[in-house]
Amino acid sequence: MRAPSRAHANRIELPDDATIDLLAEPERRAIAGHWFHRASAELGVAVAFEAFRPRLRDVGAADVVLALADKAIDDERRHGELCARLAARYLGETAVTVPEARSTALPDFGTGDEPTEIALLALGMCCINESVASEWIRSCWQVATSPAAVAANKAHLQDEIDHARLGWAHLASAAVGPVLKRSLAAWAPRLLRVNVAEWKKRDAFLPAAGIPAHGHLSAVEQDDVVDAAVRDVVLPGLVHVGLVAPP
Ligand SMILES: [Fe+2]
Ligand SMILES: [Fe+2]
Repeated sequence: MRAPSRAHANRIELPDDATIDLLAEPERRAIAGHWFHRASAELGVAVAFEAFRPRLRDVGAADVVLALADKAIDDERRHGELCARLAARYLGETAVTVPEARSTALPDFGTGDEPTEIALLALGMCCINESVASEWIRSCWQVATSPAAVAANKAHLQDEIDHARLGWAHLASAAVGPVLKRSLAAWAPRLLRVNVAEWKKRDAFLPAAGIPAHGHLSAVEQDDVVDAAVRDVVLPGLVHVGLVAPP
C-alpha cells in the first residue's frame, strides 16, 4: 500500500454561506451545539491516536500503518478546530472557542497480550468506528446543500477513510497472524454491537427530523446509514481480512 500523503495537513477554509444566516435562531443554536460538542469529540480522538501510535510501533506495525497513524493525529486535531469554527459561524460569532478534548482513554480489553490489545483497538477504533464514520459523513455530505456543510463534510470524509484504512491495513499485515485472527474473530460481534449502539445514540442538540440542508440526517436516516455501513463495508472487510467466514 502506498504511504499516505501529508498534503492535507493544512487548515480547511470554509466558503461564505448565506444559508446559515437564513436559519431560524433555534436551528442555528442546535447546529452550533452539535459542532461544538463534535469539536471536543474530534480532539479526543486525536488524543486517542496519539496514545495508539507508539503502541502500534512497539508491536511492529508496518510503516504504512504508522504513517496513517501520524496522519490521523494531524487530521483529528484539524477536524476539532474546523468543528469549533463551524460552531462559531452558526452562532454568528467571530471569536472561535476551541473546547477541551473529550476524555477518550484507550480501552483495555484485559487480554494481557499487547499485540492482541493493539489489534482489538485497530478493529474497534478504525475498522469499525472509522468505517461507520466514513459512511455517515458521506451521507451527510450527500444531503447537504449549504456550502459550508458541503465543504466541511467533504474535508472530513477525505480523512476518515484513511483512519479506517489504518485498521484494515494493520489487520491485513504480517503483524496479525492466524492465531491472533482467531482471537479477534471471537471479539468482533461484541465490538460491532458496542459501536453500533454508540452510533445510534440520539444527537443531544439536533431535532429528530435532522436539518438535511446543513448536512444533518434524521434519526431514522442515521440508524439506516449505520446498518448499511456495517452490512456493506465492515462485514465484507472482516471477510476480506479473514476474521469472518465468507457468506
Ligand atoms: Fe475526525
Ligand atoms: Fe477519524
